Amino acid sequence: MKERTKLVAAGRPKRRPFHPVNMQVERASTYLFPTYDDFLDGGKNIVYGRLGGATHRALEEAICALEGGVETRLASSGLQAVNAALLAFLRAGDRLLMTDSAYDPSRKFCQNFLARFGVETAFYDPEIGAGVSDLMTPNTKVVFAESPGSLTFEVQDLPALAKAAHAGGARLIVDNTWSAGVYLKPIELGADVVVHAGTKYFSGHSDCLIGSITSADEATAKLVFQSLLQIGSNVSADDAYLTLRGMRTLAVRMRAHEETGLALAKWLAKRPEVDTVLHPAFKSCPGHLKWKRDFTGASGLFGVILRPVGKPAIKAFFNALHHFGMGFSWGGFESLCIHVHPEKNRSATKWAKEGPVLRIHAGLEDPDDLIADLGRAFDTMKAVKG
Ligand SMILES: Cc1ncc(COP(=O)(O)O)c(C=O)c1O
Repeated sequence: MKERTKLVAAGRPKRRPFHPVNMQVERASTYLFPTYDDFLDGGKNIVYGRLGGATHRALEEAICALEGGVETRLASSGLQAVNAALLAFLRAGDRLLMTDSAYDPSRKFCQNFLARFGVETAFYDPEIGAGVSDLMTPNTKVVFAESPGSLTFEVQDLPALAKAAHAGGARLIVDNTWSAGVYLKPIELGADVVVHAGTKYFSGHSDCLIGSITSADEATAKLVFQSLLQIGSNVSADDAYLTLRGMRTLAVRMRAHEETGLALAKWLAKRPEVDTVLHPAFKSCPGHLKWKRDFTGASGLFGVILRPVGKPAIKAFFNALHHFGMGFSWGGFESLCIHVHPEKNRSATKWAKEGPVLRIHAGLEDPDDLIADLGRAFDTMKAVKG
């Protein structure tokens, strides 16, 4: 099956006369076992609400088909998916290699939470590639990658990271949220685990939080399941339903996000206010050649480094935006633009650029309207400066 067909077909209700197109929302804490023997048996698939029911299984099937893994499990948010995946493989005395470009709350989980339980985190330069093998130690159990980084957009060398991790007896976990699983297949490149913030493109409508963890093999899947089970993770059936509904249109939405993102990025690159555009499809993006090698497209999230400008001018720019909202997260139908501070979230590398950094999420509006919006905001900014 081709990708777009998989996204339409996976996790649909079993065929029977007059079956609905969509899997129903199955809300339940308690599932009743049909017989005493079934109760003793514990059930193989659906036993208790916290472990999910038919709606959850359907969504897991769709994500698993997209990522090409052996099993997918849901988490209550993208952050929980990251954290539960890490907890599945790490214990006191272990060490974790974490990309310096990681989503900041994932970073903080390692620095604050894992550290309290005796797990050491070493941050590495996202562009290190095969050089990560020099950082491996006998107690390194996980290499964590996020490609591209969701603030600074460095594209990582996943095959090289997988090779180094496996040679040292560690697993490679990849946060694949940026590509929505449509444009990058980490498991084919050697990853053991793929995590997603389904909050972004999977659900696609900015109205629910959800995460997923997909494993490349059965032994890994077992550890992931135990981790989610033991931390008491729960996903509402309504959120699973909304996310599955979003996935039906994921491939076509991604094409639109990509086209609009590229149109905005090309326009921005020509503006005098702009220093650098950080878009993996641009040569100015660190790791651009790896993007060309490993990805089949780009999502709508990218960065823009402005030439240095004062705070009142930046304030005027943001307040002048009309179509771009200012808010956290991304991946919804609506465009977003926020001011980010990569210099605050680095330890292995230094953020050397001086100008303000914007993170833009290209939504599904007409690109002409978005470009006009940015143009007006730059004009307002100039007036304040001037
Ligand atoms: C790359 C990445 N991973 C994980 C997350 C966490 O997802 P959630 O907000 O669903 O916890 C985010 C959120 O912005 C993200 O950008």
